[in-house]
Amino acid sequence: MQNLTQSPVLMAAKARGAVAIHALSKRFRMNGRALTVLNNLDMQIRPGESIAIVGASGSGKTTLLRVLAGLEEPDAGRVLIDGAPVHGVGTERAVIFQEPRLLPWRSVIDNIAFPLVIAGETRQAAVHRARHYLHLVGLADFAEAFPAQLSGGMAQRVGIARALALKPEILLLDEPFGALDAMTRIVMQEELARIWQEEKLTMILVTHDLEEAVYLADRVLILPREKNSPLREIHIDLPRPRNRSATGFVALREALMAEFGLH
Ligand SMILES: Nc1ncnc2c1ncn2[C@@H]1O[C@H](COP(=O)(O)OP(=O)(O)OP(=O)(O)O)[C@@H](O)[C@H]1O
Ligand SMILES: [Mg+2]
Repeated sequence: MQNLTQSPVLMAAKARGAVAIHALSKRFRMNGRALTVLNNLDMQIRPGESIAIVGASGSGKTTLLRVLAGLEEPDAGRVLIDGAPVHGVGTERAVIFQEPRLLPWRSVIDNIAFPLVIAGETRQAAVHRARHYLHLVGLADFAEAFPAQLSGGMAQRVGIARALALKPEILLLDEPFGALDAMTRIVMQEELARIWQEEKLTMILVTHDLEEAVYLADRVLILPREKNSPLREIHIDLPRPRNRSATGFVALREALMAEFGLH
């Protein structure tokens, strides 16, 4: 009889990029008083899943993302990536912030290739891979441009290419399109949905744009305002690519708005 644990099908199914959060708590000290920001959180994220995290301003979204990135230590509980506890930053995770923080004195291609060279790639291999990801984000013609010559949306695309070139399993994004105008934001959401599908990444996106959450996520997690309340979640079971004006989309967006008392 065939040994099932060595079946190529089962081994292929064991993809990477799983995130597990167990009893996670984070407190800060403010003016001598302890402020609980995350209280006893549990969540499980499957490899390749797309998660949006929403919540009121100050509910701890950025703090949670920084803990997942390893930029911040939790006070209690733990984060596991593919079953192993997280300690500090790691190359299997890439973080994208609202501002891409490109190096202004380096060309676009160099901004993407430079971290690869630092990571030990040859210059030739780094530039080759940088070109591939620049193409993926639709900026193949801007390799030699400098950051000051780019629009906000283009700069953010370079930031996304730079993160993807490091081949992370998990992409962590904190309001990546928050500084962009409404139309550019929609285009960028469509591109991110396509890239997420092509690269088969686990994606964890913090956003305060509820439509963006419904457009991109398999599940939307709602951080509670009351720290003793549990995390709530809404499953977005809609076919992709998603249509923002479809009845099901509108209904889920309204359900999410209702979570915040909005109509
Ligand atoms: N380094 C820090 N020291 C002290 N308090 C902090 C620190 N970082 C965050 N906080 C506090 O933790 C709480 C949550 O902050 P956080 O930035 O995670 O919120 P957020 O949900 O991302 O908000 P927003 O939607 O406005 O970005 C806030 O009350 C904030 O003042
Ligand atoms: Mg924030």
